[in-house]
Amino acid sequence: MSEEKMYNSRFEVIKSIEGFVGENLPSLLKPVDESWQPSDFLPDMTKESWQDELKEIRERAKEIPDELLVVLVGDMVTEEALPSYKTWLNRLEGITDVTGASSSAWAKWSRGWTSEENRHGDLLNKYLYLTGRVDMRAVEVTVHHLINSGFDPQTGNDPYLGFIYTSFQERATKISHSNVGRLAKKSGETLLHKICGIIAGDEARHEKAYKLFMTKIFEADPVYAVLSFAKMMRLKVTMPAHMMTDGKDKNLFTKFSNVAQRLEVYTVKDYASIIKNLVEGWNIPALKGLSDAAAKAQDYLCTLSERYNALANRFSFAANAESFSWIYDRKV
Ligand SMILES: [Fe+2]
Ligand SMILES: [Fe+2]
Repeated sequence: MSEEKMYNSRFEVIKSIEGFVGENLPSLLKPVDESWQPSDFLPDMTKESWQDELKEIRERAKEIPDELLVVLVGDMVTEEALPSYKTWLNRLEGITDVTGASSSAWAKWSRGWTSEENRHGDLLNKYLYLTGRVDMRAVEVTVHHLINSGFDPQTGNDPYLGFIYTSFQERATKISHSNVGRLAKKSGETLLHKICGIIAGDEARHEKAYKLFMTKIFEADPVYAVLSFAKMMRLKVTMPAHMMTDGKDKNLFTKFSNVAQRLEVYTVKDYASIIKNLVEGWNIPALKGLSDAAAKAQDYLCTLSERYNALANRFSFAANAESFSWIYDRKV
């Protein structure tokens, strides 16, 4: 089948599950009046007690080790590049919100997802600002650069690749935020633990949604779904912020990833575990009636997580301390 024909059929599949998405939206997105907002977790600056609340935050934030702070900043910068992710999502064939306020289920999902995600960067940004622990200007410059640089997860406008990417990525961010929260608690910063937990909860719900969309795609079009899954894994899931820079440091993302790996916030083992989770969740080993190429893709996927695990056991990361502009060039 020609590339173009495959493409049209994918568009048809996406359109065919739109009704299902519409019916499920109420359980996949939270109504606004039941949703948390960043100010629920931050001092109320209109109250007499704002100074005491602020002082308490700053006291507790002193306990956060520099290395954890660096990972938190990297996660916050990633969340703050939401305009790039929204732009990308809106380009996926069949998902596009054609008017900007379309009543199609896919458009409602994409706007709902964006509104929920928008709180993540907001909350982390305000929290970090209030702690007084980071060079906010350097952090903001990084966000500015990242949005300038853009975001290319190598999916093109293909909705199958797109939803495989988001299924993976939402699970990855859930893992990363949960681990930062756990380490924050360990260092005695209970507010940050709570903040990371509430964000991880959103990521978990989004992960469920994207995996469900892909489940429907696997039902409707198993051959191209499994080919797409293998293609995305061969391309590798690059992190959304892999183009981050503070304008001076060309290796900023690698340095940040090394610290995340060292703290076990997000590791090659996690990468392997996510592949395993998706392979099992979409029942890849049980797919039947595949073409030769799709059966090969199936075989490749079924052993892939083991291969990453083997890689993780051999993996060594730079252990030397590196400086970060985000924390006034202190080394971690
Ligand atoms: Fe997020
Ligand atoms: Fe997310």
